[in-house]
Amino acid sequence: MSVAGKRVLLVIGGGIAAYKSLELIREISRRGGAVRCILTKAGAEFVTPLSVGSLSGDTVYSDLFSLTDEAAMGHIELSRSADLVVVAPATADLMAKMAQGLANDLATTALLATDKRILIAPAMNVRMWEHPATRRNLATLRTDGVSVVGPDEGEMACGEFGFGRMAEPKSIADAIDALLAPGPALLALGNNTATRQGIASVGPLAGKSVLVTSGPTLEPIDPVRFLSNRSSGKQGHALAASAAQLGASVTLVSGPVALPDPPGVTTIHVETAQEMLAAVETALPADLAIFCAAVADWRVAGESSQKLKKSAAAPPTLSLVQNPDILATIAGLKAGRPQLVVGFAAETENVIEYARGKLRRKGCDLIIANDVGSGTGVMGGDENAVHIVSPGSVVSLPRLPKTEIADRLIRLFTDRLVKGPSA
Ligand code: CTP
Repeated sequence: MSVAGKRVLLVIGGGIAAYKSLELIREISRRGGAVRCILTKAGAEFVTPLSVGSLSGDTVYSDLFSLTDEAAMGHIELSRSADLVVVAPATADLMAKMAQGLANDLATTALLATDKRILIAPAMNVRMWEHPATRRNLATLRTDGVSVVGPDEGEMACGEFGFGRMAEPKSIADAIDALLAPGPALLALGNNTATRQGIASVGPLAGKSVLVTSGPTLEPIDPVRFLSNRSSGKQGHALAASAAQLGASVTLVSGPVALPDPPGVTTIHVETAQEMLAAVETALPADLAIFCAAVADWRVAGESSQKLKKSAAAPPTLSLVQNPDILATIAGLKAGRPQLVVGFAAETENVIEYARGKLRRKGCDLIIANDVGSGTGVMGGDENAVHIVSPGSVVSLPRLPKTEIADRLIRLFTDRLVKGPSA
């Protein structure tokens, strides 16, 4: 076990899932690791310092201003004495404070002062998890290099159902093991950009390669004018970020967008559909390929090398030729076809019917259909509502932030990679 002989600083936040942190302490001990705990004030409402201390076999720290605690071990030393810092449960409040860099109690001070990697196990009500503020904080934490395990989907203590249940102690311990794995074990995960950048080296997609296309393509008319579309790239970029977060080695082929490159992802910037196809072919092989780009269907035949000038005569006539269909090309590969090929369908009417047609015509395994009609605000917006269309079924997700849609879709694709079409 990689945690064997290592020290974990466990921050227990104030959520009902805190009881599972007691089991996490036992699991780490079982695997040969040592645990020292910080119990937040809210955490102490759910589990007692006595039970935490009995299981960890160490002093339980909770007060930034305690003379005895500070004399035993100063908060800076506490934050650095461990090999890894784990926050479980990571409540919405703790995540918000971490994202903001607040340090108004011992837990948040230690989290800000540490020079070690941090793993969080979020746990909260599903609405709190889906709230745009939490999504923003999660994105900030990921960008800061914080690793995330869970949350799981299921019934919650509050009676609601959805994502927000803290990951099981065994899964958190597995993530700890992977994060503390010595160098050769990390290398064994493959040529993983995410791992190299230290952002996510664990997760169910570790060792898998994922290819994502995103954004619009831009088809030049002349050196200053072009044909394009309103795609923002938000959904494709979020998918790439989610796959990297689950440990995959991700290549993102992106048309021109106003978004930063997602952390832990190799991003290749292209303009035209033909360049996108070439970049995709170069990026193969991949286990999973997701074609989220809004590829321009046509390009201008005979692009002008000089700026077209107005003249007294009639306006110029643009003659268009069809672009290659990147999705259909890759889905139809005889050799080297990715195990799972996913397309998107942007529709303004007959969404499911058209998506079924695309599934057949393009030869992919799944189509993610979305209604981009005017008034939906999907194209360029921060939210999406999608239908997952496979040959035998249609599963609809509610309207959610694109980051949450990405997380859910990547989990589903991960299941399909492991279990096949029955998942
Ligand atoms: N796609 C592609 N290459 C193209 C056109 C589309 O890879 N030249 C992919 C998109 O990335 C998406 C899927 O095909 O995954 C469907 O794209 P969409 O624009 O909805 O469909 P089209 O094939 O363009 O059909 P239509 O314009 O008739 O709706």
